Amino acid sequence: MNDTDTTLPEKRRILVTSALPYANGPIHLGHLVEYIQTDIWVRFQKLRGNQCIYVCADDAHGTPIMLKARQEGITPEQLIEQIGREHRADFADFLIGFDNYYTTHSEENRYFAELIYQRLKEGGHIVRRTITQAYDPEAGMFLPDRFIKGECPRCGAPDQYGDSCEVCGATYAPTELKNAVSTISGAKPVERETEHYFFKLSDFGGMLREWVNQKERLQPEIRNKLKEWFEAGLQDWDISRDAPYWGFEIPDAPGKYFYVWLDAPVGYMASFKNYCDRHDCSFDRFWSREAESDTELYHFIGKDIAYFHTLFWPAMLEGAGFRKPTAVWCHGFLTIDGQKMSKSRNTFIRARSYLKHLDPEYLRYYFAAKLGSGVDDIDLNLQDFMARVNSDLVGKLVNIASRCAGFIGKHFDHRLAERLPDPELYTAFVRSGEEIASLYEKREYGHAMREIMALADVANQYIDEQKPWVLIKESGREKEVQAICTQGINLFRILITYLKPVVPRLAERAEQFLAGGQTDWTAVEKPLLSHRVAPFKPLLTRVEERAIDALLQEAREESTAATPPAPQAEPIAETISIGDFARLDLRIARIVEAETVEGADKLLRLTLDLGGETRNVFAGIKSAYAPEQLRGRLTVMVANLAPRKMRFGISEGMVLAAGPGGKDLFLLSPDEGAQPGMRVK
Ligand code: MSP
Ligand code: ZN
Repeated sequence: MNDTDTTLPEKRRILVTSALPYANGPIHLGHLVEYIQTDIWVRFQKLRGNQCIYVCADDAHGTPIMLKARQEGITPEQLIEQIGREHRADFADFLIGFDNYYTTHSEENRYFAELIYQRLKEGGHIVRRTITQAYDPEAGMFLPDRFIKGECPRCGAPDQYGDSCEVCGATYAPTELKNAVSTISGAKPVERETEHYFFKLSDFGGMLREWVNQKERLQPEIRNKLKEWFEAGLQDWDISRDAPYWGFEIPDAPGKYFYVWLDAPVGYMASFKNYCDRHDCSFDRFWSREAESDTELYHFIGKDIAYFHTLFWPAMLEGAGFRKPTAVWCHGFLTIDGQKMSKSRNTFIRARSYLKHLDPEYLRYYFAAKLGSGVDDIDLNLQDFMARVNSDLVGKLVNIASRCAGFIGKHFDHRLAERLPDPELYTAFVRSGEEIASLYEKREYGHAMREIMALADVANQYIDEQKPWVLIKESGREKEVQAICTQGINLFRILITYLKPVVPRLAERAEQFLAGGQTDWTAVEKPLLSHRVAPFKPLLTRVEERAIDALLQEAREESTAATPPAPQAEPIAETISIGDFARLDLRIARIVEAETVEGADKLLRLTLDLGGETRNVFAGIKSAYAPEQLRGRLTVMVANLAPRKMRFGISEGMVLAAGPGGKDLFLLSPDEGAQPGMRVK
């Protein structure tokens, strides 16, 4: 290959993506976990001198976007244009440094989606099959499972979606729902036959099994999940949707469209192609099959979309003759003050609302401090957020510079000393750089932040011990003060360099103060000596409690504005006698243990203390509660319900909750004073 870059053998060539956010809603703080995580990694690679290109796009197709545009009385094109603009502004203001941000509704994307489809078809990996699907005769369209609601065929819970019951955890076909209605028109869906196109995923079973097992490809948690999926068997993937649909029409199939998830990951390629066309960069260099050996491709995604990225996507690439990803990295979900993000809980915080009240770098630092390489969920606890940012960034880091800068400015005309009084301490800070770099590389940002803050403690300790504020009052010791402050400012310079991927703007302000040119890992190997720094300006202000209050107030107002009208009241059930009621034994129970259940997406296993005995109960409340929110609290249970055998074990009763389901489930709790075992009557 001829490329001028080959003169720098150690320079890596890396292409990085974050998942493409849907163009039907605003960016919220949950999304930002991903974009901040990715951006930190990309900035780190660039600072280390690697070529690293970061592309993303809006995911602009699919039924929800079509319906939302209809609702707003605009065309889908207008909707995605408007949302695309908002997304770009939100990302820019959170300092997400995409090299290209595009849209899946582009000619490049159509080209690659069609090309990949053609090649898969030529390879015999596409089959056609007639299926029966729910159809809304009033709206004149086939209904995705999410647009059908009815009663669960197993437990009878009302208002359940067409694919699964959020109360009992059952999964089923939408045709099995009782009293089903279309959420689009309210009409009763009918069954209709239609021909669909399928991608034969199982053709790639052997390749996938080998691919996922290669070292460093996937996190262990995700690899285990894949093992389960392999065991369950790889099903053909339905890649077509019938008109009316918002997407790309399949070339040889009028009235049939590519399912949004077919062209979404192709959007990574399309965005990169669009970048290449405007820069000196070769598409094939990164995407040809040969590219797999000398360029790296990483996808950062949330764990909810692992199936698409670790099975369908590598199989599509393989089948179409392109390279496969070097690794796919999943992160967990964001909770806010221990709650899932939800409008009805006032925990749905838009990126834009945050920006009105708080500095984006606070959140970048806080997420960095909480992120590791695993898939655990992370919690944004707003009190902890304030304490952490104030103590680490303001109290420790910026403090080093502000303690030293005053003396250097006032007594030495902003000039640093010629020599460091403690060169070994400086070298020790430089040496820590490799460990910190390897932590960034492994996405162990939390660990990296702890290392950096431990060094900040050492720097502050040094200044505490040297006491420049005492020495300055003793005559003839000015030189010592200058040297001590020079040491302090140089240690600060190293630390701000290590933090630069996380807080680029703070680093920029610090660089203006240091007036010493570029800072990166190599540049800080040499200290700044006999050098004139700029007048010191405050680098960062503290997080104020009232800014957080104002943000929460805004989230509350937005959620009341967005709360849908009260759900259609469920008709009151048939009258019963007091005797009927007495047959029901309701008890106060303490949740002593709550845990997730391997293989069950909706269930939590609860251990309930009833005073004299404990019960094991499976409750379909995982969508609304994290286990740690439940441990220790009281609730109400039906204690004389016949035990029920479930796939995961026996459920010995039922806890009581209200709400339509999903995030909107609300567990009952007694007033203070109630004790486990008390009967509710
Ligand atoms: N459009 C698809 C992705 C297509 S990629 C080819 C999609 N969009 S999304 O807008 O729903 O989510 C975008 C990314 O944000 C996903 O990786 C998702 O996991 C992540 N997150 C969305 N909500 C989140 C949290 N509350 N917490 C952490 N990440 C979250 O999925
Ligand atoms: Zn059910």
